[in-house]
Amino acid sequence: MTAAVIVVAAGSGSRLASSLPKAFVSLGRQPLLHYVVNRMSEWTRWASLVLVVPEGYEAPARALSSHVDSVHVVTGGETRGASVQSGLDALPAGVTHVLIHDAARLLMPLEVFDRVLDELETGAKAVIPHIPVVDTLVTVNGSSTQGDINRDALGAVQTPQGFDLELLRQAYASAAGEFTDDAAVMRSAGYDVVGVAGDPRGFKITYPDDLVRAETLLGENSVPLVAVAMDIHQFDSTEPLWLAGLEWPGEPGLSGHSDGDAVVHAIVDAILEAASLGDLGTHFGTLRPEFAGAKSRVFLEHTLGLLEEKSLQVSSVAVQIVANAPKIGPRREEAQVTLSGLVGAPVSISATTSDGLGFTGRGEGLLAIATAVLRRK
Ligand code: CTP
Ligand code: MG
Repeated sequence: MTAAVIVVAAGSGSRLASSLPKAFVSLGRQPLLHYVVNRMSEWTRWASLVLVVPEGYEAPARALSSHVDSVHVVTGGETRGASVQSGLDALPAGVTHVLIHDAARLLMPLEVFDRVLDELETGAKAVIPHIPVVDTLVTVNGSSTQGDINRDALGAVQTPQGFDLELLRQAYASAAGEFTDDAAVMRSAGYDVVGVAGDPRGFKITYPDDLVRAETLLGENSVPLVAVAMDIHQFDSTEPLWLAGLEWPGEPGLSGHSDGDAVVHAIVDAILEAASLGDLGTHFGTLRPEFAGAKSRVFLEHTLGLLEEKSLQVSSVAVQIVANAPKIGPRREEAQVTLSGLVGAPVSISATTSDGLGFTGRGEGLLAIATAVLRRK
């Protein structure tokens, strides 16, 4: 027998609400798919590994699997079924059995892969891992519920699911409609599906909290997310100056839509970048008329709301201002207290001049550079 593994990783992860597809979301220092590929590289029972990824992510998938031999990267489809089909089409000749695995179950122990393949070796045509259902179950009809479900007779299905390749291909060829997994396709074609013990560690990353759980299990939860961003504004003496969340009477202002507060803008950009949520333009650009002319603290509040949805929080922020004026020293404490209150974490401010050089040296504009450090809740 010659076994192949297909890892389906082409979903968007809509329930994760990230700007990246689920398989490319960071867990600690690496994208999710990295951990799946590494785990597969430690398992010696396959001859070929197929990674099915979203369109446009083929190159990064190749890069993160370049240290593993016999890997094929292919583009997935609109549905999980279509992605599985792409994977099946990419299998090299000679493969007799296939294990289909959700990338989102990155922590599935290799013992479970062994159990599934062992069953195929002893002649099973279709094999699924499942785990006991721990919660009491009811059927729900609107606001009414009905009990009496014997959960001892139920199992929650996981992956990898193993198949005789020829029979699976035939089953897919004659299948009509959408199936939630590949075993269901085999069942519809009349095959018996054998069950083996799964493992709770093979839970599927679905919601943001699942990322926190996976990072904890991987020991990656202590790694902070860090980004640096800068903002530059030109001086405009007809405007009042708003900087670092404070008004500075008598000082020339900064131009720009909103209040021109380059310090808050740099902080917002650094936070968005650290969270992989894009940048100021993504959220507050000209395509978002509801933010036209908004105070920069509105941007900050909105950004903190986005972090909350991703179960992230700001650990600290540091900002350096490069300008001839205003003199920051006398109001540094006040600015730090104000910004720390707005951000909900310590914000420190420093300032320097550029020794007369460049646009800051000529007094044409002001530059703010922010570093944001985030952590998972
Ligand atoms: N999958 C895929 N192609 C699709 C849809 C899903 O390869 N068109 C993969 C996912 O990448 C995942 C597995 O199938 O590894 C299980 O799907 P699910 O957990 O539902 O992932 P998503 O569909 O990405 O998430 P969501 O349903 O929240 O959008
Ligand atoms: Mg899905």
